[in-house]
Amino acid sequence: MQTADGYSLVLTEQLGTVRLLTINRPDKLNAFTPALMRELDDVLEEIARDSATRVVMITGAGQKAFVAGNDIDGLIEMDSVEAYRDMQRGQRVLFRLYEFAKPTIAMVNGYALGGGFELALACDFIVASDTARFGFPEITLNTIPGWGGTQLAVKKMGLARAKQMVLTGRHYTSAECRAFGFIHVLASAPELKSAALAFAEQLSMHDPFAMEIAKRTVNRAGEIPLNAGLDLEAANYAVNFGTTAARAGLRAFATRRKPNNALTDNPTSSKSK
Ligand code: COA
Repeated sequence: MQTADGYSLVLTEQLGTVRLLTINRPDKLNAFTPALMRELDDVLEEIARDSATRVVMITGAGQKAFVAGNDIDGLIEMDSVEAYRDMQRGQRVLFRLYEFAKPTIAMVNGYALGGGFELALACDFIVASDTARFGFPEITLNTIPGWGGTQLAVKKMGLARAKQMVLTGRHYTSAECRAFGFIHVLASAPELKSAALAFAEQLSMHDPFAMEIAKRTVNRAGEIPLNAGLDLEAANYAVNFGTTAARAGLRAFATRRKPNNALTDNPTSSKSK
């Protein structure tokens, strides 16, 4: 694990083509401060430019929590304008993650509450341990989710379940959440990291540009009218179709091989023929 970049609240570790980020405030169950949010933003900026990283994985330091939400001690001190700015900053960083060109995985090892749950939902995939707990406790504090949770929850689990989670404020087990449909892989706590890495490594086998364009196209579903979505899909299909990687992938099938998308062989897969 390295902190040479000067990041301390967000540790970064390169595991082959996977970058593991660890939210590192374990004594406060990794609750987010504005400084932590800014650091996450900086790390994402750096990873966006790092062609050696194909997949981003996020977890929390310690055994107990992924992230237990926004830092309540700091929140109490804010006036409504400061709270507005805090929500805008959180939304900006989490939606940067939502639209990130590389696939993202939340490796949820414990409490994912409030802003921590929003962080997990902003990732493309959630790999959770059987001891993980998810929830929006804001309503029990007479507040509401503010980093995109009300919108993301509906996208990720549908209106009925989103209302259940937001309006009850209860903690839900990972087994319950698996049934809600937003947990992709469930593992025992000791096997969480190997299960998440195996999932990440599968994702990293695919061509990065095809992954980016597939993610962007799927993200637009439900945000634009169906006909516009279909037009976008056809246009994006055509853009990707012109890449060296797409040609190689189709030819590989014709010769009954798998395309070789290894980093050293195909560093600029988006380059057109
Ligand atoms: N903000 C600030 N500090 C937090 C925090 C948060 N969201 N969540 C946990 N902490 C701190 C606690 O204050 C405590 O600090 P202390 O040791 O200095 O007193 C430390 O983390 C450990 O938490 P603790 O509450 O003692 O652990 P627990 O096992 O008894 O309970 C939780 C765990 C997650 C159930 C409980 O900490 C909790 O409900 N946290 C708040 C979750 C929340 O409402 N998030 C949404 C915020 S908008």
